[in-house]
Amino acid sequence: MDLLLSLSKQLPKQESMVLLCKSLSDIADFSLSKDEKYYLESSIKKEQNSMIINRYDYYLFIVICSDDLEKIRLSAHDLHSTISKEKIKSLTVVDYSKNKSECLAFIEGLALSNYQFLKYFSNKNPHALKSIKVHFEGSSEDLQHLQASIMGTYVARDLVNEPFSYLTAPQYSIDIKRLGKEAGFSVKVFQKNKIKDLKMGGLLAVNKGSMDPPTFNILEWKPNGAKNEAPIVLVGKGIVYDTGGLSLKPTANSMDMMKCDMGGSAAVVGTLYAVAKAKLNLNVVGLIPATDNRPSGNAYAPGDVITMHNGSSVEVLNTDAEGRLILADALSYAKKYNPKIVIDLATLTGAAARAIGKQGIVAMGNDTETMAELKASGNKVHERIAELPFWEEYKEDLKSSIADLKNLGGPEAGAITAGKFLEHFTDYPYTHLDIAGPAFTRHPLNFRGQGGTGIGVRLLFDYLKQQN
Ligand code: BES
Ligand code: ZN
Ligand code: ZN
Repeated sequence: MDLLLSLSKQLPKQESMVLLCKSLSDIADFSLSKDEKYYLESSIKKEQNSMIINRYDYYLFIVICSDDLEKIRLSAHDLHSTISKEKIKSLTVVDYSKNKSECLAFIEGLALSNYQFLKYFSNKNPHALKSIKVHFEGSSEDLQHLQASIMGTYVARDLVNEPFSYLTAPQYSIDIKRLGKEAGFSVKVFQKNKIKDLKMGGLLAVNKGSMDPPTFNILEWKPNGAKNEAPIVLVGKGIVYDTGGLSLKPTANSMDMMKCDMGGSAAVVGTLYAVAKAKLNLNVVGLIPATDNRPSGNAYAPGDVITMHNGSSVEVLNTDAEGRLILADALSYAKKYNPKIVIDLATLTGAAARAIGKQGIVAMGNDTETMAELKASGNKVHERIAELPFWEEYKEDLKSSIADLKNLGGPEAGAITAGKFLEHFTDYPYTHLDIAGPAFTRHPLNFRGQGGTGIGVRLLFDYLKQQN
């Protein structure tokens, strides 16, 4: 990310500034001309909360903050379009409202709006903004943490935005290794032979139709003297492209965004990136099974019975319900860490997307404490969580007449039966996050951008910071 946040001790001169305040009286000491004051007062009367003063060689942006952090992020996003149009390279945000979290939310909105994915354009037209200086009551550590979580979100967006023509499973592992070197977390990659040795039958079955071998990626951040001995394990669905396999998706629309089917794992990579950059004092492990899912002469087929890493047999009744098969192997592999907590993220079901759309994350699990903490973080960063029931009865829908369970539930409660399938492979406190709705947006969506949104990174980073 080429946008740098830094602490500014002094007020700048002759440089563009954002003055954050609760009301105009907060900036009474700031030297403004009579005309400028008149303009601000009359704008406020018209209920405007964002004003621009053009001083020819620099700008003053005056923003009246509400106490709703998401509204502040959105007003930062609105301002970003002017900042970008005017090709402003450097900006100082001055917090006259004396509210650290509101100031950080403003910078977050601005920085997330500055994201672009330009790799495939011949004529790249990057935003000019490269530096935000912050004059506020917070510390440089506050800014480093924010910078880390924004960089992690950029990482997740970049990975999701990469098309399958580039990001095959082996290439994904190469990129994860590069990101590990950059941020400081370690990366181990299991290749197909090792995956066979480990009898990861779910990952191998989904991979059968692919031109490329699968990979199983282990990301680890383990600082000396970490607060938790037993790690927090994050598991991410790494389907680099989902055609549905032999249970082929209809081509009209349903396949065009399926490069996003590794969005859960991108959030895991982005979170590890942020945690390592911020040097959080926690043991965190990321597990990412990766492959594409497509039909071919050798592809796995509806009716197949496969044996999973934990020894359970599964009747495959729909090859498009592939995410749960690769995740199940990763979840049972997670047992060897004796984890404190396991959280998985996955673009798992259309049912979750239909239930709540892009407005949040569908969650379920058996770990009430983690669920409550994740909900609190979700409200803070506005990656909100809607919890679904996780009652035992839903498991009935997964009964098979030929194997231990089937990979398809009934016609109802598709998001929950998928979660129940995953739970079968766990024996630790477990939370499942289905991000099928919010992981990707076809149309520009405020500071969340267009394409990969990077959802999950800010949520998990905030949650982990609380555990730190
Ligand atoms: N990757 C899809 C889920 C998805 C849908 C992600 C929309 C993002 C946006 C998943 O693998 C899938 O195809 N699920 C099926 C499961 C069904 C066959 C039980 C679904 O939801 O239709
Ligand atoms: Zn699928
Ligand atoms: Zn999928």
